[in-house]
Amino acid sequence: MSYKFNSMTKYDVHPPFLFDLITQVFENETKYQDYNKVENLKKELLKDNRTVEIKDLGAGSAVSTSNRRTVSQITRYSSKSTKHGRLLYRLVNYFKPETVLELGTSLGLSSAYMALANSNSKIITVEGCPNVSAIAADNFKKLSINNIELLTGNFDEVLPEVIQSVKKLDLVFIDGNHREDPTKQYFEQCLTKATNETIFVFDDIHWSDGMENAWHYVQNHNSVSLTIDIFYMGFAFVRKELTKQHFTIRF
Ligand SMILES: C[S@@+](CC[C@H](N)C(=O)[O-])C[C@H]1O[C@@H](n2cnc3c(N)ncnc32)[C@H](O)[C@@H]1O
Repeated sequence: MSYKFNSMTKYDVHPPFLFDLITQVFENETKYQDYNKVENLKKELLKDNRTVEIKDLGAGSAVSTSNRRTVSQITRYSSKSTKHGRLLYRLVNYFKPETVLELGTSLGLSSAYMALANSNSKIITVEGCPNVSAIAADNFKKLSINNIELLTGNFDEVLPEVIQSVKKLDLVFIDGNHREDPTKQYFEQCLTKATNETIFVFDDIHWSDGMENAWHYVQNHNSVSLTIDIFYMGFAFVRKELTKQHFTIRF
């Protein structure tokens, strides 16, 4: 069954878990000081005209392609919006996941939001383009962030190593290689280290037919109970105590 929140009020929502999530994460309007740290850096990056040779391993390139972009362009076109970055901040701040895995660092803005949200969370983030990852590393230094482990390499090669090395994954954010089969495979691989509390976040679930299929695969997966679709992102929970339900919320 699916529900649209825009046609119902949050008071119609029965599971307390979902009610708290909506009120304390999605609708929380607190102006956290940390937001400014990431957003001031973003302003600088938007003015940065250094050119970077891009190695693109993601959707749209059957094989690796190379091209040049400015830091400003990468910031504008690859980073999540401020609104969604803040949402990731609040998600980490609320659930306090011990281990977070992000596939797709780009310049590190979403990693920075998550790292600042809880200094006890360890953020493992993976970026395939070495030139981009070098700038992300610089950005983490600029923000004095010490709880991010940045790995450079193709997800297909790095993810199995990460899975081997971690005890569990508490939050997984898949924001790179927006293609159907890789997205499903990354999800399946990460599930092997999921606990009852693990949260999966998928970016751009309606970006293409392939991503739409991948999102339906996640929603219908036996391990998944609750899902929340906010259009630009999808959230999947595996908590067994929750009834399988799919919500769409206007965010
Ligand atoms: C949308 S950007 C990530 C944005 C970042 N999470 C943020 O919001 O600030 C996706 C990144 O994933 C990387 N990527 C895509 N496919 C990849 C793959 N197969 N292996 C490694 N990196 C990949 C790209 O180089 C790109 O920098």
